Amino acid sequence: MSDVHVIDHPLIQDKLTRMRRIDTSSQDFRLLLREISLLMGYEVTRDFQTQLAEFETPVCKGAFPKLVDRFVTIAPILRAGLGMVDGLQELMPFARVGHIGMYRDEKTHEPVEYYYKMPEGVEKSIVIVVDPMLATGGSAIDAVNSLKARGCTRIRMMNLIASPEGVAAVQAAHPDVDVYVAAVDERLNEDAYIVPGLGDAGDRIFGTK
Ligand code: PRP
Ligand code: URA
Repeated sequence: MSDVHVIDHPLIQDKLTRMRRIDTSSQDFRLLLREISLLMGYEVTRDFQTQLAEFETPVCKGAFPKLVDRFVTIAPILRAGLGMVDGLQELMPFARVGHIGMYRDEKTHEPVEYYYKMPEGVEKSIVIVVDPMLATGGSAIDAVNSLKARGCTRIRMMNLIASPEGVAAVQAAHPDVDVYVAAVDERLNEDAYIVPGLGDAGDRIFGTK
């Protein structure tokens, strides 16, 4: 069974509360999402391996830790996942970005894939799938299915808010994929929206409603 890491750092929680507020502007919402993504990135990458490498400082020679694997792919689920890319890329400028276009059918709540573009050789990469909302889990499960179908084996998810149902669904479908979230909320409502949640993340990021 995969692990669910709830990152309850006070700075993240305070920013998330501001994002939830109905009166937060689209501009502030985007900024907060970028900041939270960067902060969450510390935990999402905590188990990245380092190895000692020989270097010379201005003072002496020594062996210092260096990342073993710099082939990291940030994979946003469009549209809302795009709001989490910049913060993570600020932390890892070497990371590549692969896009997964997917939307939830409004009636069935089932995900529909419309775009998929990953860096060449992505199967060798550590992939961080990002999307602010993990509601039913359908989009996340399908995104991971697409990556696994292309040979990816080292996949993790980073979400802002999850529902308990969504987390359970992802764990059942992908027991090898760890999930990192800032909050697990109470439940889903009849429209499969997270309660209390923050509304429609894509609309709030892009100002489409
Ligand atoms: C939202 C959200 C997730 C999905 C979560 O996207 O950004 O991708 O819903 O729901 P699920 O866990 O039930 O699949 P949406 O379909 O609204 O598309 P958008 O980002 O283009 O607005
Ligand atoms: N997608 C969102 O943007 N918000 C929800 O609460 C559920 C799905």
